[in-house]
Amino acid sequence: MNLDLTGKRALVCGSTQGIGKASAMELALLGASVTLVARNEEKLKEVIKQLPADDTESHHFIVADFTQPEDLKAKVADYIERNPIDILVNNTGGPAGGLAIEAELEEYTKAFSQHVICNQILAQLLIPNMRQAGWGRIINIISTSVKTPLKGLGVSNTIRAAVANWAKTLSFELGGLGITVNNVLPGSAMTGRLESLINSRAEKEGKTSEQVKAEMIKEIPAGKIGTPEDVAAAVAFLASPAANYINGINIPVDGGRTASL
Ligand SMILES: NC(=O)c1ccc[n+]([C@@H]2O[C@H](COP(=O)([O-])OP(=O)(O)OC[C@H]3O[C@@H](n4cnc5c(N)ncnc54)[C@H](OP(=O)(O)O)[C@@H]3O)[C@@H](O)[C@H]2O)c1
Repeated sequence: MNLDLTGKRALVCGSTQGIGKASAMELALLGASVTLVARNEEKLKEVIKQLPADDTESHHFIVADFTQPEDLKAKVADYIERNPIDILVNNTGGPAGGLAIEAELEEYTKAFSQHVICNQILAQLLIPNMRQAGWGRIINIISTSVKTPLKGLGVSNTIRAAVANWAKTLSFELGGLGITVNNVLPGSAMTGRLESLINSRAEKEGKTSEQVKAEMIKEIPAGKIGTPEDVAAAVAFLASPAANYINGINIPVDGGRTASL
């Protein structure tokens, strides 16, 4: 199976920790040069040092905030003039938890901007090079909620569905150009985000975090919470030449938790 990404450059968003960081590590292991994007410059510098690199790879970072789409656009537009990108991993912090009916209108517009609009900005910037190369990968980190909405994640459920349909539509439009667009749907991967969701649920329900974690594990056929690396393996596979004929799909990485196909 051809998993070799030597000579390719990946832009991996939300990559100072969690799933984004693990994806950057896996892509670098397969030979890709990686450009990290996140807000925290110190952490970005730390991750750069940890990325595996041989003579063919050079890793960079861009400090940008997905709540500032125009700023993100300007920084990435400037960067790609010198560094064309072959692989885009769309990923950023998830919306806060809470009931859909109780969410402020602003929470929806903010999440739409951070997820759909920023994805669209990045895709529009990077697709021209992919089109010219006749090869490209767009991989979106979303959530299993696009298959079965998750209780207590109202804004997230809504926005993830929008991203999934955006991606599916794009896959029709770009498939003939050698560019694939796919989604990876994490279930429960132990990251900063999951930790904070567990803690806030524990507080709300008057339980300990350990109790909440145990309840979550009961719902997972694999009998354990996953790791960011579990999710990153799916990202790396979809980015690889081996995934050439896979386009427009959702891959849940959830230990079998999602109760639908
Ligand atoms: N972990 C799970 O079990 C799980 C399950 C389903 C879905 N997901 C989704 O998968 C995605 C990644 O999750 P994760 O668990 O890896 O999250 P995480 O541990 O919170 O990491 C989020 C990453 O995104 C960056 N980020 C956050 N807000 C940003 C912003 N405004 N602009 C630019 N970068 C930003 C953070 O870096 P800086 O702070 O340096 O900017 C960090 O590197 C999220 O959308 C999450 O909701 C996760």
